Amino acid sequence: MGPYLAVVNPVLWEIGHVAWFHEYWTLRHAAGHTPLIERCDRLWDSSAVPHATRWHLDLPDRTGTRGYMADVLARQQQMLGRGVDDATCYFYDLSVRHEDMHVEALTYMRQKVLRGGCWATSARIARPAYRNFFTLDRSDVFAGFRTCAM
Ligand SMILES: [Fe+2]
Repeated sequence: MGPYLAVVNPVLWEIGHVAWFHEYWTLRHAAGHTPLIERCDRLWDSSAVPHATRWHLDLPDRTGTRGYMADVLARQQQMLGRGVDDATCYFYDLSVRHEDMHVEALTYMRQKVLRGGCWATSARIARPAYRNFFTLDRSDVFAGFRTCAM
């Protein structure tokens, strides 16, 4: 999961939260489905799960989280294949825009690499005494997701 950082979420939590948001608004709120995972609101509802506790939740592992994401997407595709009205489209649009915001957050996270860099950071630029921070124009640096270790 990686160490606690006040300015980012754990990646595993973040991607599960994005899937949860899609499920919550498009499948449950707009279409009346029941939750795909019974405890999903206790895991990924950002209004109910304080930031500091996101490192200590009993989250599904990476395979489980990816499976949840795939299940949500498959159900959305089924719903969209049948056609949805404008009111429902609003919730798909909301979820996609929310996902875009989290992609920006993931980009931000990518730059928050721990001391020494990640497995792919060149020894030439790894700095063991402090956090590496490289701007996006440094295309020669692979920052990876070391802080969030999926
Ligand atoms: Fe969110």
